[in-house]
Amino acid sequence: MFTAKEIKNICCIGAGYVGGPTMAVLADKCPFLNIYVVDLNQERIQQWNSKDTSELPIFEPGLEQIIKRVRGKNLFFSFNVEKYISIADMVFLSVNTPTKTKGVGSGQASDLSCIEACARQVAKSSKGHTIVVEKSTIPVKTAETIKLILKSTEESEDIKLKSFSILSNPEFLAEGTAINDLENPDRILIGGEDEESINYLSKIYEEWVSPKKIIKTNLWSSELSKLIANAFLAQRVSSINSISALCEKTGADINQVSSAIGADSRIGSKFLMAGPGFGGSCFKKDILNLVYLCNYFGLPEVADYWKNVININDWQQKRLSEIIVEKLFGTLTGKKIVILGFSFKAKTNDTRESPSIKISKYLLEEGAHLVISDPKVSQKQVEQELKDNQFDDSEINSKLFSGTWEFSNNFDSAFDHADAVVVLTDWPEYKKLQWQLICKRMRKPAWVFDTRSVVDDEAIKNIGLNIWKLGSNY
Ligand code: NAD
Ligand code: UGA
Repeated sequence: MFTAKEIKNICCIGAGYVGGPTMAVLADKCPFLNIYVVDLNQERIQQWNSKDTSELPIFEPGLEQIIKRVRGKNLFFSFNVEKYISIADMVFLSVNTPTKTKGVGSGQASDLSCIEACARQVAKSSKGHTIVVEKSTIPVKTAETIKLILKSTEESEDIKLKSFSILSNPEFLAEGTAINDLENPDRILIGGEDEESINYLSKIYEEWVSPKKIIKTNLWSSELSKLIANAFLAQRVSSINSISALCEKTGADINQVSSAIGADSRIGSKFLMAGPGFGGSCFKKDILNLVYLCNYFGLPEVADYWKNVININDWQQKRLSEIIVEKLFGTLTGKKIVILGFSFKAKTNDTRESPSIKISKYLLEEGAHLVISDPKVSQKQVEQELKDNQFDDSEINSKLFSGTWEFSNNFDSAFDHADAVVVLTDWPEYKKLQWQLICKRMRKPAWVFDTRSVVDDEAIKNIGLNIWKLGSNY
């Protein structure tokens, strides 16, 4: 058995929303490390290596500046996965772990095929002692699988040449604030069995994070804590969204309720913004995974409890779409609706599981003509998300859309003859819209549906537009 030597070369497999920013910050904070981010997706790697840093595959405030500082110095992007695993002392697994779409556990369990492929690749290409770090979000006990794959190599003819230790080091960054989250984390979680390896990873983080913020646990607590952190955050969003519907019925205002309950230090003020439901690549998949695990371990009551967090989220998107149809006299055929915001939240170009996708599909299914706009999402990406021209929701199974859509960021023409504007993403620029001018262009009676509390509702009302605001009884 080898022991860990000083860490010099780090390889991160997966150049995505986690691998890219995480390794950029690591390279920035630790100039003595050489960091190689590898990915099978050649197009993505080319974008990361693009001379024009505005063409990076990910938009994240502050990322471009860091990339300019470290790329080519101690941060490198490559698709030569094998080569950089072979020189690495530590390998981060930062690959995607989506929900399984077929076979056992389909629709709930995590698809760990990328993790398994990485483990096999590390087993094959590594040399000497390698610390393998789970950065991806994975079901509790995944380290067991990785260990088995790596161990089978240790026990093969390579026994004298290779050894491994495994750590869990989940990532808690949120998109849009990733750089700040990485530079000033609330905590760093490291789970493992081998104290020496834990300390090596801890020492790296201690370059910029206080040791008091570094939590060391066993492997399983670390793996599970990541899923639970996301489940608790998503639960808060579903809780406040469920109350937004009650506010609309009663005359209470959801923002006033959020402030009032958030002032209680036991509840806290964060994550209490009602909206069109949570999106993003992780909340839904991680809760589905939790539901699967609970059922697997014989806890159906716990599984049902968490499943409801997703049910409320789906319901919120459906309910908002139905309100839009109802306010526009029960039909959207021949009506023009401007969708403001297609990313799942502000300050990211990520559209995975964005509420805008489902809501757009509902409106298209009703026959609307949508003008979709977003400051950072491209037309190609919107096309990708709406490409099936079909609903993947089992309730509206196989219905083809009768509506049409176009993409436009031209606010001079987008609102012309529009019947409604729907604000779906909390981009700060939507706070500065010139409603006076927009109102003149729209067909009357015209509506503004604000699902993110970004527009000035009093001003809009005063210029003669109808306003519907989530969580209030306007
Ligand atoms: P992503 O899809 O953006 O990136 C994953 C990358 O891994 C892709 O570029 C893919 O080509 C690459 N890949 C897959 N298999 C590979 C292989 N065998 N060899 C080389 N490259 C391979 O995913 P992401 O958003 O970065 O998420 C990665 C993990 O981190 C997931 O488990 C996710 O749950 C977790 N996570 C994501 C976020 C987030 O904000 N996106 C935050 C915390 C944790
Ligand atoms: C979330 C977690 O916040 C991260 O800690 C975690 O690392 C990450 O998931 C992950 O594992 O992928 P992210 O999905 O990037 O990060 O963004 P959030 O800020 O959590 O927002 C998620 C969704 O909830 C967005 O659609 C957002 O608009 C919505 N949301 C959030 C609300 O509707 N209201 C709120 O008060 C907060």
